[in-house]
Amino acid sequence: MAMTVKHLGVIVLAAGEGTRMKSAKPKVMHELAGLPLLGHVLATAHSLDASHVIPVIRHQRDVLADYIQAFYPTSTIADQDEVPGTGRAVECGLSALPEDFYGAIVVTSGDVPMLQVDTIEALLEAHVDGGFAATVLSTVAEDPSGYGRIVRNTDGLFQSIVEHKDASDAQLAIQEVNAGVYVFDSALLREALPRLGSANAQGEKYLTDVVALALDAGQAVQALAIDDFWQVAGINDRIQLAEVAAELNARICEAWMAAGVTILDPSTTWIDVTVTLDRDVTLLPGTMLHGLTTVGEGATVGPEVVVVDSQIGAGASVVKSHVTGSKIGEGASVGPFSYLRPGTDLGADGKIGTFVETKNAKIGAGSKIPHLTYVGDAEIGVESNIGAGTIFANYDGVNKHRSKVGSHVRTGAHNVFVAPITIGDGAYTAAGTVVRKDVEPGALAMSVAPQRNLADWVLQNRSGSKAASAAESAKK
Ligand code: UD1
Ligand code: CA
Repeated sequence: MAMTVKHLGVIVLAAGEGTRMKSAKPKVMHELAGLPLLGHVLATAHSLDASHVIPVIRHQRDVLADYIQAFYPTSTIADQDEVPGTGRAVECGLSALPEDFYGAIVVTSGDVPMLQVDTIEALLEAHVDGGFAATVLSTVAEDPSGYGRIVRNTDGLFQSIVEHKDASDAQLAIQEVNAGVYVFDSALLREALPRLGSANAQGEKYLTDVVALALDAGQAVQALAIDDFWQVAGINDRIQLAEVAAELNARICEAWMAAGVTILDPSTTWIDVTVTLDRDVTLLPGTMLHGLTTVGEGATVGPEVVVVDSQIGAGASVVKSHVTGSKIGEGASVGPFSYLRPGTDLGADGKIGTFVETKNAKIGAGSKIPHLTYVGDAEIGVESNIGAGTIFANYDGVNKHRSKVGSHVRTGAHNVFVAPITIGDGAYTAAGTVVRKDVEPGALAMSVAPQRNLADWVLQNRSGSKAASAAESAKK
C-alpha cells in the first residue's frame, strides 16, 4: 500500500452495557459464528499494523478483561470511568497511549463485527493521503433508524453527525449513516475530547461531536461511504444479532463453496469462522459446524448433524448425529442417531451406528459398533465387532473404570461389560452375556443360564387365550 502512517493506534469501544440486548451477558460477549462480537472486532484490529490495540471496557470489565487477556494478550486494556458516552470512551482509551504518541488513531466499535481489515486500510489510506484530521466511515442504509446520520451541506460536503435521538424530522430522512468507525489524527483527539459537552438527548459525551469541533477549527474532515451495508451493521439488540448472523453465515458458506465445498442448502447450514473444510466436502441441510472443527477431503456431513470441536477424516460420513470433542477417522461412518461425546476416537473405516453413545472411547480401525450401544471409558482394537444392545458398564456408582477389548473380537448381542475388564484378541462372547471376568484371547465367554422350556405351560395356564388356541393349531 502506498501509505505511510508514522504510528497507528486502534481503540476498540466495548465499555457499554448494551441495554437493548436485555441480557445478563455484556453485549459484546454475545456469540456470532463461534466468536464473541468482541472477538471478531479484536481479530480485525490486531490484523492492522498497529503499535497499540486498546479495548476500552467498563461494564462487567472482568468478563471482558479475562477474554481479552486469554485470546488477544497483546492488547492494552483501558478502563472507562463513570462519565458515559463514546467520546469519553475514546478519551479513556487515548490515555492508555504513551504521552508522546502521535499519528493516526483508528476507532472501531465492539458491536460492529463484520467490518473487514481491507476496508479500514482503505479508510486509513484516504485519511493519510488527503491530509485529513478526521475520516468517518459511512454507508447508505435502506433503513437508517437508530444510526447517527451524516449531515452534508448543499455542496455535498460533510458537516456533522447527528444521533437518531437528537435528529430533526428532516435529518431523520437522511439515509447516509455513521458506521461508528473512524480514523483521527491523534492531535485532534487530544485537543477536542476534553472539550466535548453532554448537552444531548442521552446526556453523554458523543465521539461524533469531535467532527463538528474539527470543522469549527478549520480542519479537514471527510465521510467515506462504502456500498456494503453489512460491514458497518451495528448490533444493538437480538434481532440485529440474528440478521447479522444470517448474513455472515451466508458469506462464510459462499467462501467455502468458492473453495470447493458443496453446500446443498446454505440457509440451514451454519459454519463458525473457526471451522476448516477441505475440498469436495459435502454438507447436507441442517448441518452446524462449530468451534475448532475440521472436515477432511471428500467427507459428507448431514443432514441434521451438529459437530463441535471435532476432526472428521477424509471420506468419512456423518448422518443425523451429535458429535463433540471427537475424532472420526478416514472413511469411517457415523449415524444416523449417534452421540459422540468428548474423547471419542474412531479409527479409519470404523463405524458408530444407530442409537450408539460413546465417550472417552478409542475405537480401532475397521471396528464396528452398529446398534443400540453405550461405550464409555473403553479401548477397542482393530476390526472388532460389538454386538447390538451392549453396555460398557463403566461406573460403579462411585468411580469410573476402563474396559479393554482386543482386535478381531466378536461380542454377542445384549452384553454387559462390567469394567474394569479386558477381553483378549480374537475372543467371542455369547449373546446376553454379562462379562465380569477377563476373557483370554480366543475364548468364548458366556454367563447365560441354560434355557429350559416348560412344555404346554400356555395350554395349562392360559387355556382359552388366543395364544393357547394358536399353540393348539400349531400342534395339530
Ligand atoms: C454509535 C454512534 C452512531 C453510529 C453507531 C454505529 C455515537 C454517539 N453514536 O451509536 O453515530 O451510527 O454507533 O453503530 O458514537 N461505548 C463505550 N462507552 C460508552 C458508550 C458506548 O465504550 O460510554 C461503546 C459500546 O460498548 C459500543 C460502542 O461504543 O461498542 C457504540 O455504542 P452504542 O451505545 O452502541 O452506540 P450507538 O447508539 O449504536
Ligand atoms: Ca451500536
